[in-house]
Amino acid sequence: MTETLTMRRPDDWHLHLRDGAMLAGVLPETARHFARAIIMPNLVPPVVTGGDARAYRDRILAALPDGMAFEPLMTLYLTETTEPADMAAAHAEGLVTAVKLYPAGATTNSASGVRDLSRVMPVLEKMAEIGLPLCIHGEVTTPEVDIFDREKVFLDTVLDPLRRSLPELKVTLEHITTSDGISYVSNAPGDIAGTITTHHLMINRNHMLVGGIRPHYYCLPVAKRSTHQIALRKAATSGNPRFFLGTDSAPHTDETKESACGCAGVFSATNTLSCLAHVFEEEGALDKLEGFASLHGPARYRRPPNDDRITLAKRAAPTDYPAKIDTGAGPVTLFDPGHPLYWHVIA
Ligand code: NCD
Ligand code: ZN
Repeated sequence: MTETLTMRRPDDWHLHLRDGAMLAGVLPETARHFARAIIMPNLVPPVVTGGDARAYRDRILAALPDGMAFEPLMTLYLTETTEPADMAAAHAEGLVTAVKLYPAGATTNSASGVRDLSRVMPVLEKMAEIGLPLCIHGEVTTPEVDIFDREKVFLDTVLDPLRRSLPELKVTLEHITTSDGISYVSNAPGDIAGTITTHHLMINRNHMLVGGIRPHYYCLPVAKRSTHQIALRKAATSGNPRFFLGTDSAPHTDETKESACGCAGVFSATNTLSCLAHVFEEEGALDKLEGFASLHGPARYRRPPNDDRITLAKRAAPTDYPAKIDTGAGPVTLFDPGHPLYWHVIA
């Protein structure tokens, strides 16, 4: 008998779609399974104003193939010159769902990010007042801090002080990669939640570095040691509503990944649900997958969960995913967890 799992249609609370030919190539991979996604604003140049967000949303909707439904939830890229009034107006008209904080230089296309948090306090105060959530890339960029410690140091030196000075601000700590991040989000008072990616549940730094360097596992925050991976899996499958899915699916062409200075980002849109079902089954928690992928995120963003359902089935033979997605911008390698996947979305 085939095992099946029916649940509410999921949403992705952290997604990179890019623009132009790449956008057209990767958008169907998400829209096939997901109803909505928080769209990251780190284009070049970034999505900073309400006008930028409207134009980008229109480009996304124009790239959506006929017959597919998908709602992009737009974000603004916080800069030291962001105008609180423009941001508040974009929120009031329902155009933006969150604002994104990238510490300057933390990751791909983050050069316009924030260098000095004190310069954006008026914007953050306005966000707290109007209930607009801040999505945070939680890593310091101080050159002296080791790359594997950057998330923990961020919690201690940036996030916790910020939340103490502005406790009303709604914060989502994105793509958590450490047990420190998990315990911070689990225990901190006030309005905080955290997203976890698909790939950080399935790989640790050994997968990336043992037996040869695997550029398609390189992303930021970088995968940590296995004890952290175990903490992420426990949190994701715990049923705690503070944790939910943000795939951080981040396409780069093979040419830019397989390079002497390869880009950070894992592309997982196509097989994310197969991967998640695999992980949740391994953890004996298939009954918690709907909460993680389809319920906790909407609750956090004060939206109803999706009405319609998807069904996954576990097959005897592994699902045959393509190794790469061909986009007009070039081939993009799909996340390969390194073992067969038996769960597959059938409806
Ligand atoms: C993201 C990208 O490529 O835009 N890369 C990544 O490794 N996750 C940026 C980000 O979310 O850090
Ligand atoms: Zn990202």
